[in-house]
Amino acid sequence: MAVQISPSILSADFARLADEAARVEGVADWLHVDVMDNHFVPNLTLGLPVVEALLRATPIPVDCHLMIEDPDRWAPGYAEAGAGSVTVHAEAAKAPVRTLRAIRAAGARSGFALNPATSIEAYEDLLPEIDMLLLMTVEPGFGGQRFLDVVLPKITRTRALIEKHGGEIWLQVDGGVSAETIERCAAAGADVFVAGNAVYAADDPAQAVRDLRALALAHPPLG
Ligand code: DX5
Ligand code: ZN
Repeated sequence: MAVQISPSILSADFARLADEAARVEGVADWLHVDVMDNHFVPNLTLGLPVVEALLRATPIPVDCHLMIEDPDRWAPGYAEAGAGSVTVHAEAAKAPVRTLRAIRAAGARSGFALNPATSIEAYEDLLPEIDMLLLMTVEPGFGGQRFLDVVLPKITRTRALIEKHGGEIWLQVDGGVSAETIERCAAAGADVFVAGNAVYAADDPAQAVRDLRALALAHPPLG
């Protein structure tokens, strides 16, 4: 299982996004972009025009996390724009199968996100439609929140479902992932790690990415 690190630009300087992306170029596998609409979550960030500009400004593949209402309408546009991965929330999507298929048809990896209180079991039958499951390890909306240990058993159960299903589905964790918490996530079975504050509040973001990767690699899932 490969470990991937996806720094979240939510904790970067929004006035200098191209420079902030360049700070992790060559070490980050993805650039995680949090799209928030002030409806699905109580925060407002950026949308498609900024993602399009970022795609032109960085060679790092872009991982779009849509925390918006009506993702069925908006998600395919992010894939068409060139995002490598587009993730919609289970709590917001009204036609997830159609939307996940539309994301793939537009050439991106299809991502499906669950809030901390949303159970994975209800979505087992959707696994063939999904390239990456995102388990939120904070309530979505803001960077710099405290990691919720209560999600760890769900990470373990989700890894087991992925193994049972077969195929290549990545398991991403997002929220409060840091040098203090990444080992727990990796040991529970996560393989893609979003980190906002832990990367962009560090003096050396590239070194923070390297350190996080080393910690995750040192704690593979048990059994
Ligand atoms: C929160 C976002 C996260 C956020 C993580 O709703 O989805 O991607 O940027 O930030 P940290 O790593 O600081 O918790
Ligand atoms: Zn996110």
